[in-house]
Amino acid sequence: MIIKVLGSAAGGGFPQANCVCRNCADVRAGKPGLVPRTQSSLAVSPDGARWVLLNASPDLRRQIELTAELAPRAGQGPRSSPISAVVLTNGDVDHVAGLLSLREGFAFDLYGSERVLAVLAANPIFNVLDADRVSRRALQLDKSIEVSPGVCVEAFAVPGKVALYMEDESAGPSFGTQAGDALGLKVTDPPGKRAFFYIPGCAAVNQALAARLRGAALVLFDGTLYTDDELIAQGLSAKTGKRMGHISMAGPDGSIAAFRTLDVKRRIYVHMNNSNPVLREDSPEHAAVERSGWEVACDRLEICL
Ligand code: MLT
Ligand code: MN
Ligand code: ZN
Repeated sequence: MIIKVLGSAAGGGFPQANCVCRNCADVRAGKPGLVPRTQSSLAVSPDGARWVLLNASPDLRRQIELTAELAPRAGQGPRSSPISAVVLTNGDVDHVAGLLSLREGFAFDLYGSERVLAVLAANPIFNVLDADRVSRRALQLDKSIEVSPGVCVEAFAVPGKVALYMEDESAGPSFGTQAGDALGLKVTDPPGKRAFFYIPGCAAVNQALAARLRGAALVLFDGTLYTDDELIAQGLSAKTGKRMGHISMAGPDGSIAAFRTLDVKRRIYVHMNNSNPVLREDSPEHAAVERSGWEVACDRLEICL
């Protein structure tokens, strides 16, 4: 199984177009030790020929352009693409807006939760995905399905939050979140010999999630923030990570601590927000993350399982 990180940044990307935080200013200026990153997506293939996208980011067109394997092949007619399926982990803009770049005759199967598919169905702009070419299929929780030959996906609910634009303030602290609004994916080959987990948005590692991940070969996990209050401390937003549905890396409730006893062989952070100090390769936070056995993904990172 081949896994390519198409985009390793959270919503907004790195640098974010309207942001002059220290990280964004420095990466924009080309300072050493910081590399630009596009928004959150992976591509998976059993053989390098057919590819499944896990999330479709607003940067998808650029990501396709930078990934030779995703280019159309000669001899397949005037319009073709090796992308055979797209699987969504939630309805966030950074994970669904790229679907709009898959109009113009792309043919693929689209998988998401019932609620996310309902959001897409309620937004007629997504009708640019021609129903004759794009079939929309609901993911059942905890059931593995072959989304494309050689790639099976099992979606499961993780602690998290409904998409920002769907928040219902009147519903109290859950903002109307339902089980399955934040999904993790277990991706396997059909015999189930090779498996990895992709969880780009997660508010906490509860017992159920810990049990699922224990002993895994590879987990690509929510690396949005280093500390829960970093957006507030940097004057970027009034929200904590918890309020946004994202666990932080550091601290007693953080992902570094939560994974310490899980025996996950390879742990890679994805979906980093531009405020995150680990995006500076010379920072103490970057060093601390690496010392804890974690990697910080860059765009175009490739992993063979
Ligand atoms: C998130 O990961 O929290 C969302 O992508 C936020 C957003 O929609 O801007
Ligand atoms: Mn996001
Ligand atoms: Zn910034």
